[in-house]
Amino acid sequence: MITKISKILVIGSGGREHALAWKFAQTHDWDNVFTLPGNGGIPNSFDINPMDFEAVERFCKEKGVDLIFVGPEQPLAAGIVDYFRKTDIQIFGPTQKAAQLEASKIFAKYFMHKYEVSTARFKTFQNATDAQIYATEMDGFCVLKYDGLAAGKGVFVCGSLSELDAAIQEIRAVYGEKVPLIVEQRLEGDEISIIGFTDGKSVKLLQASQDHKQLLDGDKGPNTGGMGAYSPVEGIDPVLMKKIHLRIIKPTLQGIHEEQMDYKGMIYFGIMVENGIPYLLEYNARFGDPETEVLLPALKNDLTEVIAACLKGQLSDIELAFETGFFTDVVLVSGGYPKAYPKGLNIHGLDYQDTEVLVFHAGTKKVGEHIQTDGGRVLNVVAHGRTLEESLEKAYRMVDKIQFEGMFFRRDIGKRDNKHLQ
Ligand code: AMP
Ligand code: GLY
Repeated sequence: MITKISKILVIGSGGREHALAWKFAQTHDWDNVFTLPGNGGIPNSFDINPMDFEAVERFCKEKGVDLIFVGPEQPLAAGIVDYFRKTDIQIFGPTQKAAQLEASKIFAKYFMHKYEVSTARFKTFQNATDAQIYATEMDGFCVLKYDGLAAGKGVFVCGSLSELDAAIQEIRAVYGEKVPLIVEQRLEGDEISIIGFTDGKSVKLLQASQDHKQLLDGDKGPNTGGMGAYSPVEGIDPVLMKKIHLRIIKPTLQGIHEEQMDYKGMIYFGIMVENGIPYLLEYNARFGDPETEVLLPALKNDLTEVIAACLKGQLSDIELAFETGFFTDVVLVSGGYPKAYPKGLNIHGLDYQDTEVLVFHAGTKKVGEHIQTDGGRVLNVVAHGRTLEESLEKAYRMVDKIQFEGMFFRRDIGKRDNKHLQ
Protein backbone atom coordinates (compact mmCIF):
# COMPACT_ATOMS: atom_id res chain seq x y z
CA MET A 1 0.00 0.00 0.00
CA ILE A 2 1.25 3.48 -0.82
CA THR A 3 0.99 5.81 2.13
CA LYS A 4 1.26 9.59 2.27
CA ILE A 5 4.84 10.82 1.98
CA SER A 6 5.59 13.20 4.84
CA LYS A 7 9.18 12.47 5.86
CA ILE A 8 11.87 11.58 3.39
CA LEU A 9 15.30 10.04 3.69
CA VAL A 10 17.86 10.55 0.92
CA ILE A 11 20.69 8.01 0.82
CA GLY A 12 24.07 9.27 -0.38
CA SER A 13 26.59 12.06 0.13
CA GLY A 14 27.24 13.90 -3.11
CA GLY A 15 25.99 16.84 -5.13
CA ARG A 16 23.25 14.60 -6.52
CA GLU A 17 21.96 13.97 -3.00
CA HIS A 18 22.14 17.67 -2.07
CA ALA A 19 20.05 18.44 -5.18
CA LEU A 20 17.58 15.68 -4.24
CA ALA A 21 17.24 16.84 -0.65
CA TRP A 22 16.84 20.45 -1.86
CA LYS A 23 14.10 19.39 -4.29
CA PHE A 24 12.22 17.46 -1.58
CA ALA A 25 12.60 20.40 0.80
CA GLN A 26 10.80 22.66 -1.72
CA THR A 27 7.56 20.77 -1.04
CA HIS A 28 8.19 19.14 2.34
CA ASP A 29 10.33 21.62 4.25
CA TRP A 30 13.91 20.97 5.38
CA ASP A 31 12.66 19.69 8.77
CA ASN A 32 11.19 16.63 7.03
CA VAL A 33 14.14 15.75 4.81
CA PHE A 34 17.07 13.71 6.14
CA THR A 35 20.24 12.54 4.41
CA LEU A 36 22.57 9.63 5.26
CA PRO A 37 25.46 10.28 5.46
CA GLY A 38 25.08 13.59 3.62
CA ASN A 39 27.78 16.25 3.64
CA GLY A 40 28.73 19.66 5.02
CA GLY A 41 26.11 21.53 2.99
CA ILE A 42 23.03 19.35 3.37
CA PRO A 43 20.90 20.21 6.41
CA ASN A 44 19.90 17.17 8.50
CA SER A 45 22.86 15.03 7.44
CA PHE A 46 23.50 12.12 9.82
CA ASP A 47 26.70 10.13 9.94
CA ILE A 48 25.23 6.64 9.47
CA ASN A 49 26.64 4.16 6.95
CA PRO A 50 23.89 3.56 4.36
CA MET A 51 25.25 0.07 3.65
CA ASP A 52 24.19 -0.92 7.18
CA PHE A 53 20.52 -1.46 6.33
CA GLU A 54 19.52 -2.28 9.91
CA ALA A 55 20.99 1.00 11.12
CA VAL A 56 19.12 2.81 8.31
CA GLU A 57 15.89 1.10 9.38
CA ARG A 58 16.40 2.11 13.02
CA PHE A 59 17.01 5.70 11.89
CA CYS A 60 13.82 5.69 9.77
CA LYS A 61 11.73 4.42 12.69
CA GLU A 62 13.20 6.99 15.05
CA LYS A 63 12.49 9.88 12.66
CA GLY A 64 9.20 8.57 11.22
CA VAL A 65 10.56 8.39 7.66
CA ASP A 66 8.00 7.10 5.17
CA LEU A 67 10.01 7.28 1.92
CA ILE A 68 13.63 6.40 1.18
CA PHE A 69 15.21 7.70 -2.03
CA VAL A 70 18.44 5.89 -2.89
CA GLY A 71 20.99 8.12 -4.64
CA PRO A 72 24.05 5.95 -5.40
CA GLU A 73 24.46 2.51 -6.98
CA GLN A 74 26.23 0.57 -4.20
CA PRO A 75 23.25 0.20 -1.82
CA LEU A 76 21.02 -0.69 -4.79
CA ALA A 77 23.44 -3.39 -5.96
CA ALA A 78 23.63 -4.67 -2.37
CA GLY A 79 19.83 -5.05 -2.21
CA ILE A 80 18.66 -2.11 -0.09
CA VAL A 81 15.34 -2.04 -1.97
CA ASP A 82 14.71 -5.77 -1.36
CA TYR A 83 15.49 -5.21 2.33
CA PHE A 84 13.04 -2.33 2.79
CA ARG A 85 10.30 -3.99 0.72
CA LYS A 86 9.98 -6.33 3.72
CA THR A 87 9.32 -3.38 6.05
CA ASP A 88 6.51 -0.82 6.01
CA ILE A 89 8.88 1.96 4.88
CA GLN A 90 8.48 2.85 1.21
CA ILE A 91 11.60 2.90 -0.92
CA PHE A 92 12.23 4.21 -4.43
CA GLY A 93 14.77 2.34 -6.53
CA PRO A 94 15.23 -0.93 -8.43
CA THR A 95 15.56 -4.27 -6.65
CA GLN A 96 18.94 -6.01 -6.58
CA LYS A 97 18.03 -8.07 -9.63
CA ALA A 98 17.04 -5.01 -11.64
CA ALA A 99 20.08 -3.05 -10.41
CA GLN A 100 22.22 -5.69 -12.17
CA LEU A 101 21.59 -3.62 -15.28
CA GLU A 102 24.16 -1.24 -13.83
CA ALA A 103 26.15 -3.45 -11.45
CA SER A 104 27.18 -6.05 -14.05
CA LYS A 105 28.21 -4.79 -17.46
CA ILE A 106 28.14 -8.34 -18.85
CA PHE A 107 24.58 -8.84 -17.56
CA ALA A 108 23.61 -5.52 -19.14
CA LYS A 109 25.21 -6.36 -22.50
CA TYR A 110 23.45 -9.74 -22.71
CA PHE A 111 20.18 -8.05 -21.76
CA MET A 112 20.69 -5.46 -24.53
CA HIS A 113 21.55 -8.21 -27.00
CA LYS A 114 18.55 -10.36 -26.04
CA TYR A 115 16.06 -7.51 -26.34
CA GLU A 116 17.70 -5.94 -29.41
CA VAL A 117 18.62 -2.68 -27.75
CA SER A 118 20.91 -0.65 -30.03
CA THR A 119 24.44 -1.02 -28.61
CA ALA A 120 28.08 -1.48 -29.68
CA ARG A 121 29.07 -5.02 -30.78
CA PHE A 122 30.86 -6.95 -28.06
CA LYS A 123 32.36 -10.22 -26.86
CA THR A 124 32.94 -11.37 -23.29
CA PHE A 125 36.03 -13.06 -21.82
CA GLN A 126 36.98 -14.63 -18.52
CA ASN A 127 40.65 -13.65 -18.52
CA ALA A 128 42.89 -10.82 -19.65
CA THR A 129 44.92 -12.90 -22.16
CA ASP A 130 41.94 -14.00 -24.26
CA ALA A 131 40.55 -10.46 -24.23
CA GLN A 132 43.91 -9.14 -25.40
CA ILE A 133 44.13 -11.62 -28.29
CA TYR A 134 40.69 -10.65 -29.53
CA ALA A 135 41.29 -6.91 -29.07
CA THR A 136 44.58 -7.19 -30.96
CA GLU A 137 42.58 -8.33 -34.01
CA MET A 138 40.80 -4.97 -33.80
CA ASP A 139 44.22 -3.24 -33.90
CA GLY A 140 43.57 -2.09 -30.37
CA PHE A 141 40.74 0.20 -31.52
CA CYS A 142 38.22 -0.95 -28.95
CA VAL A 143 36.89 -0.49 -25.43
CA LEU A 144 37.70 -2.87 -22.56
CA LYS A 145 35.24 -3.03 -19.68
CA TYR A 146 35.64 -4.69 -16.32
CA ASP A 147 32.45 -6.45 -15.23
CA GLY A 148 31.53 -4.74 -12.00
CA LEU A 149 30.96 -1.47 -10.18
CA ALA A 150 34.19 0.47 -10.56
CA ALA A 151 33.02 4.07 -10.19
CA GLY A 152 33.83 4.76 -13.85
CA LYS A 153 37.37 3.39 -13.50
CA GLY A 154 36.85 -0.04 -15.07
CA VAL A 155 36.51 1.21 -18.66
CA PHE A 156 39.51 1.56 -20.99
CA VAL A 157 38.96 3.31 -24.30
CA CYS A 158 41.85 2.32 -26.60
CA GLY A 159 42.91 3.68 -29.97
CA SER A 160 46.07 1.68 -30.68
CA LEU A 161 47.92 -1.52 -29.80
CA SER A 162 50.14 0.32 -27.32
CA GLU A 163 47.08 1.75 -25.55
CA LEU A 164 45.60 -1.74 -25.50
CA ASP A 165 48.81 -3.13 -23.93
CA ALA A 166 48.80 -0.43 -21.28
CA ALA A 167 45.12 -1.12 -20.51
CA ILE A 168 45.70 -4.87 -20.21
CA GLN A 169 48.67 -4.24 -17.92
CA GLU A 170 46.58 -2.02 -15.69
CA ILE A 171 43.72 -4.53 -15.64
CA ARG A 172 46.13 -7.30 -14.60
CA ALA A 173 47.62 -5.07 -11.89
CA VAL A 174 44.23 -4.06 -10.45
CA TYR A 175 42.05 -7.13 -11.02
CA GLY A 176 44.48 -9.99 -11.81
CA GLU A 177 44.62 -12.30 -14.85
CA LYS A 178 41.34 -14.13 -14.20
CA VAL A 179 38.91 -11.31 -14.69
CA PRO A 180 35.55 -11.05 -16.49
CA LEU A 181 35.98 -8.54 -19.31
CA ILE A 182 34.02 -7.17 -22.23
CA VAL A 183 35.75 -6.12 -25.43
CA GLU A 184 33.53 -3.73 -27.32
CA GLN A 185 33.47 -1.99 -30.67
CA ARG A 186 34.68 1.55 -30.11
CA LEU A 187 32.14 4.17 -31.15
CA GLU A 188 32.92 7.78 -31.94
CA GLY A 189 30.24 10.39 -31.48
CA ASP A 190 28.48 12.61 -28.97
CA GLU A 191 27.50 11.31 -25.56
CA ILE A 192 24.19 12.27 -23.98
CA SER A 193 22.50 11.36 -20.72
CA ILE A 194 18.85 10.42 -21.01
CA ILE A 195 17.41 9.94 -17.54
CA GLY A 196 13.86 9.17 -16.52
CA PHE A 197 11.50 7.81 -13.91
CA THR A 198 10.12 4.33 -14.38
CA ASP A 199 7.45 2.19 -12.76
CA GLY A 200 8.68 -0.80 -14.76
CA LYS A 201 5.93 -0.31 -17.34
CA SER A 202 6.59 3.13 -18.73
CA VAL A 203 9.34 5.74 -18.61
CA LYS A 204 8.90 9.50 -18.20
CA LEU A 205 12.02 11.32 -19.27
CA LEU A 206 13.61 14.37 -17.78
CA GLN A 207 15.28 16.76 -20.20
CA ALA A 208 18.40 15.54 -21.99
CA SER A 209 21.73 16.55 -20.48
CA GLN A 210 25.44 16.20 -21.11
CA ASP A 211 28.09 15.35 -18.56
CA HIS A 212 31.74 16.41 -18.97
CA LYS A 213 33.67 13.40 -17.73
CA GLN A 214 37.25 14.36 -18.47
CA LEU A 215 39.30 16.55 -16.18
CA LEU A 216 40.55 19.14 -18.64
CA ASP A 217 39.05 21.56 -21.15
CA GLY A 218 38.49 20.13 -24.61
CA ASP A 219 37.70 16.68 -23.11
CA LYS A 220 41.35 15.98 -22.38
CA GLY A 221 42.99 14.30 -19.41
CA PRO A 222 41.82 11.47 -17.18
CA ASN A 223 38.21 10.48 -16.55
CA THR A 224 36.56 11.85 -13.41
CA GLY A 225 33.21 11.45 -11.70
CA GLY A 226 32.02 14.41 -13.80
CA MET A 227 33.32 17.99 -14.08
CA GLY A 228 30.06 19.65 -15.05
CA ALA A 229 26.78 19.28 -16.88
CA TYR A 230 24.17 21.28 -18.68
CA SER A 231 20.59 20.77 -19.84
CA PRO A 232 18.68 20.73 -22.12
CA VAL A 233 20.91 19.80 -25.07
CA GLU A 234 20.27 21.75 -28.25
CA GLY A 235 20.49 19.57 -31.32
CA ILE A 236 18.53 16.63 -29.95
CA ASP A 237 15.56 16.83 -32.28
CA PRO A 238 12.32 14.79 -32.31
CA VAL A 239 13.74 12.44 -34.96
CA LEU A 240 16.65 11.45 -32.72
CA MET A 241 14.34 11.16 -29.69
CA LYS A 242 12.09 8.85 -31.67
CA LYS A 243 15.05 6.63 -32.52
CA ILE A 244 16.05 6.59 -28.84
CA HIS A 245 12.52 5.54 -27.88
CA LEU A 246 12.22 2.84 -30.52
CA ARG A 247 15.73 1.38 -30.41
CA ILE A 248 16.60 1.78 -26.73
CA ILE A 249 13.78 2.65 -24.33
CA LYS A 250 10.98 0.48 -25.74
CA PRO A 251 13.03 -2.75 -25.94
CA THR A 252 14.43 -2.02 -22.46
CA LEU A 253 10.91 -1.84 -21.01
CA GLN A 254 10.06 -5.04 -22.85
CA GLY A 255 13.09 -6.73 -21.24
CA ILE A 256 12.23 -5.43 -17.76
CA HIS A 257 8.75 -6.88 -18.22
CA GLU A 258 9.84 -10.25 -19.62
CA GLU A 259 12.59 -10.73 -17.05
CA GLN A 260 10.05 -9.86 -14.33
CA MET A 261 12.27 -7.20 -12.84
CA ASP A 262 10.74 -5.11 -10.09
CA TYR A 263 11.96 -1.72 -11.25
CA LYS A 264 10.46 1.39 -9.69
CA GLY A 265 13.14 4.00 -9.73
CA MET A 266 15.36 6.14 -11.91
CA ILE A 267 16.71 4.74 -15.13
CA TYR A 268 19.69 6.33 -16.86
CA PHE A 269 20.52 5.62 -20.49
CA GLY A 270 24.12 6.60 -21.26
CA ILE A 271 23.94 7.02 -25.02
CA MET A 272 26.53 7.64 -27.73
CA VAL A 273 25.12 9.15 -30.90
CA GLU A 274 27.25 8.31 -33.92
CA ASN A 275 26.13 10.01 -37.15
CA GLY A 276 22.56 10.39 -35.90
CA ILE A 277 22.30 6.76 -34.67
CA PRO A 278 21.91 6.24 -30.91
CA TYR A 279 23.81 3.39 -29.21
CA LEU A 280 23.35 2.52 -25.56
CA LEU A 281 26.73 2.50 -23.76
CA GLU A 282 25.38 1.72 -20.33
CA TYR A 283 22.43 1.67 -18.01
CA ASN A 284 22.63 3.26 -14.60
CA ALA A 285 19.96 2.25 -12.14
CA ARG A 286 19.93 5.69 -10.52
CA PHE A 287 20.17 9.41 -11.17
CA GLY A 288 23.42 10.67 -12.73
CA ASP A 289 25.85 12.93 -10.97
CA PRO A 290 26.38 15.80 -11.98
CA GLU A 291 23.30 15.56 -14.25
CA THR A 292 20.85 15.59 -11.31
CA GLU A 293 22.11 19.00 -10.23
CA VAL A 294 20.83 20.52 -13.50
CA LEU A 295 17.79 18.27 -14.00
CA LEU A 296 16.02 18.73 -10.67
CA PRO A 297 16.06 22.55 -10.60
CA ALA A 298 14.42 22.37 -14.05
CA LEU A 299 11.66 19.99 -12.93
CA LYS A 300 8.44 21.76 -11.97
CA ASN A 301 6.59 18.72 -10.58
CA ASP A 302 6.43 17.78 -6.92
CA LEU A 303 9.01 14.97 -6.85
CA THR A 304 7.07 13.00 -4.23
CA GLU A 305 3.99 12.91 -6.50
CA VAL A 306 6.01 11.45 -9.36
CA ILE A 307 7.56 8.88 -7.01
CA ALA A 308 4.18 7.94 -5.52
CA ALA A 309 2.84 7.39 -9.05
CA CYS A 310 5.82 5.10 -9.82
CA LEU A 311 5.31 3.13 -6.60
CA LYS A 312 1.63 2.65 -7.49
CA GLY A 313 2.50 1.57 -11.02
CA GLN A 314 0.66 4.62 -12.37
CA LEU A 315 3.47 6.66 -13.87
CA SER A 316 1.62 6.96 -17.18
CA ASP A 317 -0.85 9.33 -15.42
CA ILE A 318 1.93 11.85 -14.75
CA GLU A 319 2.98 14.68 -17.06
CA LEU A 320 6.38 16.13 -16.31
CA ALA A 321 6.81 19.89 -16.71
CA PHE A 322 10.02 21.90 -16.97
CA GLU A 323 11.22 25.44 -16.46
CA THR A 324 12.13 27.17 -19.70
CA GLY A 325 15.75 28.05 -20.38
CA PHE A 326 19.01 26.30 -19.54
CA PHE A 327 20.74 25.02 -16.43
CA THR A 328 24.50 24.70 -16.05
CA ASP A 329 26.58 23.02 -13.35
CA VAL A 330 30.28 23.78 -12.93
CA VAL A 331 31.98 21.32 -10.58
CA LEU A 332 34.79 22.61 -8.36
CA VAL A 333 37.32 19.91 -7.52
CA SER A 334 40.29 19.51 -5.18
CA GLY A 335 43.78 20.06 -6.61
CA GLY A 336 45.19 16.66 -7.62
CA TYR A 337 41.79 15.02 -8.25
CA PRO A 338 41.14 12.38 -9.66
CA LYS A 339 44.42 11.21 -8.10
CA ALA A 340 45.36 11.94 -4.47
CA TYR A 341 44.23 15.30 -3.09
CA PRO A 342 44.30 17.05 0.27
CA LYS A 343 41.25 17.33 2.53
CA GLY A 344 40.29 19.67 5.33
CA LEU A 345 40.93 22.97 3.49
CA ASN A 346 38.71 25.92 4.38
CA ILE A 347 36.33 27.01 1.61
CA HIS A 348 35.78 30.76 1.23
CA GLY A 349 33.02 32.71 -0.50
CA LEU A 350 30.10 30.44 0.30
CA ASP A 351 28.35 33.23 2.19
CA TYR A 352 28.00 35.18 -1.08
CA GLN A 353 24.33 35.04 -2.07
CA ASP A 354 23.04 35.05 -5.60
CA THR A 355 19.34 34.24 -5.91
CA GLU A 356 19.83 32.87 -9.41
CA VAL A 357 22.54 30.41 -8.42
CA LEU A 358 22.42 27.25 -6.32
CA VAL A 359 25.49 25.72 -4.72
CA PHE A 360 25.13 21.99 -4.14
CA HIS A 361 27.80 20.50 -1.91
CA ALA A 362 29.57 17.22 -2.63
CA GLY A 363 32.90 16.54 -0.83
CA THR A 364 32.51 18.98 2.04
CA LYS A 365 32.25 18.76 5.81
CA LYS A 366 31.27 21.19 8.50
CA VAL A 367 33.92 21.82 11.14
CA GLY A 368 32.66 24.29 13.75
CA GLU A 369 31.55 27.30 11.72
CA HIS A 370 33.72 26.42 8.71
CA ILE A 371 32.96 24.40 5.63
CA GLN A 372 36.01 22.40 4.60
CA THR A 373 36.91 20.25 1.61
CA ASP A 374 36.39 16.53 2.21
CA GLY A 375 36.49 14.89 -1.21
CA GLY A 376 37.59 15.13 -4.84
CA ARG A 377 34.50 16.77 -6.23
CA VAL A 378 33.79 19.51 -3.70
CA LEU A 379 31.02 21.83 -4.92
CA ASN A 380 28.54 22.17 -7.77
CA VAL A 381 27.69 25.69 -8.88
CA VAL A 382 24.36 25.60 -10.71
CA ALA A 383 22.80 28.52 -12.57
CA HIS A 384 19.67 29.09 -14.64
CA GLY A 385 19.51 31.34 -17.69
CA ARG A 386 17.18 32.09 -20.57
CA THR A 387 19.97 31.01 -22.88
CA LEU A 388 22.81 28.56 -22.33
CA GLU A 389 25.28 31.46 -22.49
CA GLU A 390 23.39 33.32 -19.75
CA SER A 391 23.37 30.27 -17.47
CA LEU A 392 27.10 29.76 -18.07
CA GLU A 393 27.86 33.39 -17.40
CA LYS A 394 25.96 33.33 -14.08
CA ALA A 395 27.55 30.06 -12.99
CA TYR A 396 31.11 31.21 -13.72
CA ARG A 397 30.44 34.58 -12.04
CA MET A 398 29.62 32.67 -8.84
CA VAL A 399 32.60 30.33 -9.29
CA ASP A 400 34.82 33.42 -9.20
CA LYS A 401 33.59 34.21 -5.67
CA ILE A 402 34.45 30.78 -4.27
CA GLN A 403 37.91 29.77 -3.31
CA PHE A 404 39.94 27.06 -1.62
CA GLU A 405 43.58 26.13 -1.95
CA GLY A 406 44.20 24.15 -5.15
CA MET A 407 40.61 24.59 -6.42
CA PHE A 408 40.23 23.49 -10.03
CA PHE A 409 37.38 23.52 -12.56
CA ARG A 410 36.73 23.32 -16.28
CA ARG A 411 36.10 26.56 -18.15
CA ASP A 412 34.35 25.00 -21.12
CA ILE A 413 31.21 23.43 -19.64
CA GLY A 414 28.35 23.54 -22.18
CA LYS A 415 30.68 24.28 -25.10
CA ARG A 416 30.13 21.18 -27.18
CA ASP A 417 29.80 21.18 -30.94
CA ASN A 418 27.75 17.94 -30.95
CA LYS A 419 28.33 17.28 -34.64
CA HIS A 420 27.00 13.72 -34.42
CA LEU A 421 23.54 14.48 -33.09
CA GLN A 422 21.97 14.84 -36.55
P1 AMP B 1 30.49 3.13 -19.37
O1 AMP B 1 30.76 3.04 -17.90
O2 AMP B 1 30.21 1.81 -20.01
O3 AMP B 1 29.47 4.17 -19.71
O4 AMP B 1 31.83 3.73 -20.01
C1 AMP B 1 32.44 4.90 -19.49
C2 AMP B 1 32.81 5.82 -20.62
O5 AMP B 1 33.64 5.14 -21.57
C3 AMP B 1 31.60 6.29 -21.42
O6 AMP B 1 31.01 7.38 -20.82
C4 AMP B 1 32.24 6.61 -22.75
O7 AMP B 1 32.83 7.88 -22.73
C5 AMP B 1 33.32 5.56 -22.89
N1 AMP B 1 32.83 4.41 -23.66
C6 AMP B 1 32.17 3.33 -23.18
N2 AMP B 1 31.85 2.46 -24.16
C7 AMP B 1 32.31 3.02 -25.31
C8 AMP B 1 32.30 2.60 -26.69
N3 AMP B 1 31.76 1.45 -27.08
N4 AMP B 1 32.90 3.42 -27.58
C9 AMP B 1 33.46 4.58 -27.20
N5 AMP B 1 33.51 5.02 -25.95
C10 AMP B 1 32.95 4.25 -24.99
N1 GLY C 1 27.35 11.24 -14.78
C1 GLY C 1 27.62 9.86 -14.94
C2 GLY C 1 27.11 9.01 -13.87
O1 GLY C 1 26.44 9.45 -12.96
O2 GLY C 1 27.37 7.82 -13.91
